[in-house]
Amino acid sequence: MQNVGFIGWRGMVGSVLMDRMVEENNFANINPIFFTTSQAGQKAPVFGGKDAGELKNAFDIEELKKLDIIVTCQGGDYTTEVYPKLKESGWNGYWIDAASTLRMKDDAIIVLDPVNQHVIAEGLKNGIKTFVGGNCTVSLMLMAIGGLFEKDLVEWVSVATYQAASGAGAKNMRELLSQMGELRDSVETELANPASSILEIERKVTEKMRSCDFPTENFGAALGGSLIPWIDKLLPETGQTKEEWKGYAETNKILGLSDNPIPVDGLCVRIGALRCHSQAFTIKLKKNLPLAEIEQIIAAHNEWVKVISNDKEATLRELTPAKVTGTLNVPVGRLRKLAMGDEYLAAFTVGDQLLWGAAEPVRRILVQLTQ
Ligand code: HSE
Repeated sequence: MQNVGFIGWRGMVGSVLMDRMVEENNFANINPIFFTTSQAGQKAPVFGGKDAGELKNAFDIEELKKLDIIVTCQGGDYTTEVYPKLKESGWNGYWIDAASTLRMKDDAIIVLDPVNQHVIAEGLKNGIKTFVGGNCTVSLMLMAIGGLFEKDLVEWVSVATYQAASGAGAKNMRELLSQMGELRDSVETELANPASSILEIERKVTEKMRSCDFPTENFGAALGGSLIPWIDKLLPETGQTKEEWKGYAETNKILGLSDNPIPVDGLCVRIGALRCHSQAFTIKLKKNLPLAEIEQIIAAHNEWVKVISNDKEATLRELTPAKVTGTLNVPVGRLRKLAMGDEYLAAFTVGDQLLWGAAEPVRRILVQLTQ
């Protein structure tokens, strides 16, 4: 049984990973060792009925060197500090990471096995030891319309994202809810009175949103009742945000197309959903196919994607963050040809940012390495 070390298992992505591993009985096949950045020596958690003894120090290279596999959801700073030291020490185990730090390295593979098992298998054969979960919007896009890429039908994709607070972190989710609560509380009296003026309510809400005591420490702006058309830092050469750049760079790396990339670009926007990212695509197809055939190709790609018929009832029932949150389902709907021409396809998808967007690809590569 392989020794598998977990770092960052207590955080948001780490907790979702632990839950999924328990659900799928993945602890049965491994000898888990839990690490901490602050509480070494305390009792380790028990997942899947396995007593893991004491927590170890996450910066202790000698302890880390004993591991066959390291799984980290601790974040990029940890990876930047520890990974090079561990490699320099001669450690040759598998490093599985949810953070973006190593994603674009030549000796790392971005894992999303329902989409790129061929790339993963080739990498394993060639001795690749570093496996990194992809950016959440990229993974969710490829789970949704992977069939079109697989059949080489995509000339380019333009995307508009509607990204949840969870992608920015746990504190941001709290801040969004605090903002929503404050807005509602600012008009409690007026809301209780059906005769009160809606424009007066809106004026008070807007005033609250703009006030200097409105909680915006994490987002830097109001998100509740508003939106933020900016995610991550600016890349000055192109004017893209880094999140927008990832859509292109990571998609092509996942698909193994970096030498002959498919253009993917668009605008990434933070909205007031809690943990589901949504995306609207304009897809230029390489050829004109009937919509029914396109739907069939999308639906057949993997067991989690589901085509939602383009009607209001099905869309409201199936194609919303409220419906998808906490599930592995990846619905794709609003599928129709656009007025620009027969080769232009519209699609909308929703996916859980913490499951397929973060923990699930990481869990699945671990399972693959420990079977
Ligand atoms: N960068 C993403 C976001 C989350 O801010 O929503 C992680 O992939």
